Amino acid sequence: MQNPISGKESVVKAVGLSKEFRDFWNRPKAKAVNDIDFEVYEGEVLGLLGPNGSGKSTTIKMLLGLLYPTAGSITVFGESPRSVRTKMRIGYLPEESYLYKYLTAMETLDFFGALFNLSAVERRSRSEQLLEMVGLSHVRNRPVGEFSKGMARRIGLAQAMINDPDLLILDEPTSGLDPIGCKEIKDLITFLQKRGKTVIVSSHLLGDVEDICNRVLILYGGVIRASGTLDELLTISSSSRITTPLLEQGITERLVKILRDNLKGEEFVIDHPRRTLEDFFLDVVNKARSESVKTYGAEGGGEIAGYLKEESRDVLKELVSVQKETKPEMPVVEKEEEGEAEDESGKSREKIDRLATHAVEEKKQLPELKPPEDREEINKKLSHLVSKKDGKH
Ligand SMILES: Nc1ncnc2c1ncn2[C@@H]1O[C@H](COP(=O)(O)OP(=O)(O)OP(=O)(O)O)[C@@H](O)[C@H]1O
Ligand SMILES: [Mg+2]
Repeated sequence: MQNPISGKESVVKAVGLSKEFRDFWNRPKAKAVNDIDFEVYEGEVLGLLGPNGSGKSTTIKMLLGLLYPTAGSITVFGESPRSVRTKMRIGYLPEESYLYKYLTAMETLDFFGALFNLSAVERRSRSEQLLEMVGLSHVRNRPVGEFSKGMARRIGLAQAMINDPDLLILDEPTSGLDPIGCKEIKDLITFLQKRGKTVIVSSHLLGDVEDICNRVLILYGGVIRASGTLDELLTISSSSRITTPLLEQGITERLVKILRDNLKGEEFVIDHPRRTLEDFFLDVVNKARSESVKTYGAEGGGEIAGYLKEESRDVLKELVSVQKETKPEMPVVEKEEEGEAEDESGKSREKIDRLATHAVEEKKQLPELKPPEDREEINKKLSHLVSKKDGKH
């Protein structure tokens, strides 16, 4: 289905979607989501808003196939969210980061890359770029268990993008992040949207949502209470605002007279606009950075990962195919059996452990890299690989 106005393809479609949690004796505990309909179109950033317990995370878990709806239906890319093909196209940042605390930042990304069957070379290249992008390159070899909340959020976000997803689902992505991290995540979301990616964000930080979302759904008690584009919902069409360069005293006085004569006693305000606290804060921190003041936390993120940019994708695809010819087969991720994910933890863990062992074994066969000097060397090797495949020398 297409959006009748924008002509964009539908990515998510929920019809009569409901989820009721029941207790051990099958007695109803909570109607978390109650008969909601919504659609998300390609290239949109949709904000999922609502107070605590309003059903945001439950909706997201149904979108991911982690929970079964009690009633209604949900499709993602036209298929069940439980289909492996659909899962391969989704990136997910959970409300709480579930990380193996003894793995380093680099190993964490490598591990998630392995779950998507990426080759060892591809995993390493993407991990390097993502760590750089989220500002964690300098702590790449520290176990993630030692990370601060904001640092854990950053590695969680990097992990959500390891498969270059078409649909990114972010449950409170800016929670625990400092204002620099928030700004970077917002910029990243906007960048991904420009590349045609679809993003669903749940957040309590309404300012952030306002900065990045095209459309919002406001849930209360599991029901959609309001939905629409920010323009539709927020524009106050009964007022006007004019912003100009600083006006000379004489012009201001003439303006005030015109307004008084025409507004017939109604109140009006002429003042100076204020910058946002976010802008001001970022200026102060950037100044400290330019003076090389030391910090042991996350650094400002770097460039957006190259593989997430359109122009580098073909090269990467070719690299992957070169790797497939030479690398041993990864164990295949079996299709999930029916039943709620919560009941499957034992089996899933076994599967994940098997993949992790394979990933570690595969990694051992690679020469140890010393970042970032070796990156140029890797790039050279990779381009050589590609040109060899093309028959160019
Ligand atoms: N596994 C579960 N078992 C029982 N009840 C649950 C479960 N998960 C969620 N709920 C209930 O469903 C309702 C919606 O919860 P949900 O986590 O979706 O809210 P939320 O909008 O994400 O809230 P928050 O803003 O606090 O993250 C709540 O009443 C919650 O107690
Ligand atoms: Mg939640």
